[in-house]
Amino acid sequence: MSIKVVILAAGKGTRMRSAKPKVLHQIGGVSLLQHVLNTVEELNHAIPLVIYGHEGEQVIADTIHQGEWIEQKEQRGTGHAVQQALPHIEQDDTVLILYGDVPLIQSETLNRVLNHALNGNVGLLIYSMDDPTGYGRVVCDEKGNVQKIVEQKDATEDELSIKDINSGILSVPGDKLHQWLGELQPNNAQGEYYLTDIFHMAVRDGVSVNTESVSDEAEITGVNDKVQLAQLERDYQLRCVEALMRQGVTFFDPKRFDLRGKVKHLGEDVSIDINVVLEGVISIGNNVSIGPNCVIKNSSIADNVQILANSVIEDAELGQHCTIGPFARVRPGSILSDHVKIGNFVETKNVAISSASKVNHLSYIGDAIVGANVNIGAGTITCNYDGANKHQTIIKDGAFIGSDTQLVAPVVVGENATVAAGSTITKDAPDCQLTLSRVHQFSKTDWKRPVKKK
Ligand code: UD1
Ligand code: CA
Repeated sequence: MSIKVVILAAGKGTRMRSAKPKVLHQIGGVSLLQHVLNTVEELNHAIPLVIYGHEGEQVIADTIHQGEWIEQKEQRGTGHAVQQALPHIEQDDTVLILYGDVPLIQSETLNRVLNHALNGNVGLLIYSMDDPTGYGRVVCDEKGNVQKIVEQKDATEDELSIKDINSGILSVPGDKLHQWLGELQPNNAQGEYYLTDIFHMAVRDGVSVNTESVSDEAEITGVNDKVQLAQLERDYQLRCVEALMRQGVTFFDPKRFDLRGKVKHLGEDVSIDINVVLEGVISIGNNVSIGPNCVIKNSSIADNVQILANSVIEDAELGQHCTIGPFARVRPGSILSDHVKIGNFVETKNVAISSASKVNHLSYIGDAIVGANVNIGAGTITCNYDGANKHQTIIKDGAFIGSDTQLVAPVVVGENATVAAGSTITKDAPDCQLTLSRVHQFSKTDWKRPVKKK
């Protein structure tokens, strides 16, 4: 006996007006279907059964999932979709029905719905709507017991005025599902096999239908077009930002922040200015401040780091007390020790920089190892690429690189070496010496500025 979660994801999603299958559109950087599967993972011992249809190969390729993929070749209604899963459902299983395009449902809600089926009844998630147009209406008797669900297209005038709608999410014991789905007939306005017909069968068979509800409409909202997608994105972001604020983050404006991944570790006294995007897996230490318009992806940021405005950081590790930006680009493989300073218009890539070294202005430092207490002057470039291969630059502890220097790799700048401004360094620069490669300066005494011809 186990919990089987049937996820309906075979619909075409015509109104998205997109070549991409509907359930692969994203919210917070994660596909709609993946959101649902991630929530199912939070349920104890639940096995997902995903019903796919359109562009199935792409959906399967882009989704991580531990259960079964089941194809529904023709879309003949929600009841027909669930019928495809029956070979994977045992009589003593408990079944939960979800939708690949309803991404923000919460596991706490699902557990409430599931419990009814675990007790041998049917569970139904409903919601009361001011404008229920388009949804199936939940018809109850005088005592408030559910009698049936009628679709918009099949409803009478009276039924249309009912505000309680069927979210579509329900739970049912496996044996009952087998029996009831076997009885479905497409006798309705749309000529489809309606899953919702199982409710009047339940009532007929004396199985009670118990309803649950949610306070947040976003939980049961499906995505049918780009407007709904954008609305749910905002709902989701608000949810993320609220969770982060409860963990102590100060946001300058919670509406202007986007999380497209997750914050794995979060310290105290973190502040985040406006228009910051965090992507992938991020870890942030204590006393970290992130300035406006920063994008940070798959990186870890240690305590007391300051990231100034307009910096982009990806696949990087920032040690304690580092200062980055403004306008810095810290690219993949940048590993910075403590007290490192990366200033404006500096790009780093695949570089380890040791303690207290500074690259303050307008430089590119890539494929390099930089020691401690190194000062790299403005406009320094590691020329790492010869057009075919990449080569490494090593700059040892205490070195001083004058402004506008090109370090043509492979090359080593020794400990406490000084490289004069404007040099093109093609051979190793020895420890403790001044190295320069520059034309000697001279002045012409007899020179005159040209004058314009008449
Ligand atoms: C369904 C419910 C309705 C409920 C509403 C909530 C039925 C008969 N009606 O109506 O009571 O208020 O959802 O949104 O169940 N799907 C398949 N294969 C199919 C048909 C549908 O995978 O053959 C999937 C769709 O991709 C979609 C979901 O099931 O994600 C719902 O299908 P849809 O046709 O949108 O149902 P509604 O008419 O909205
Ligand atoms: Ca729908």
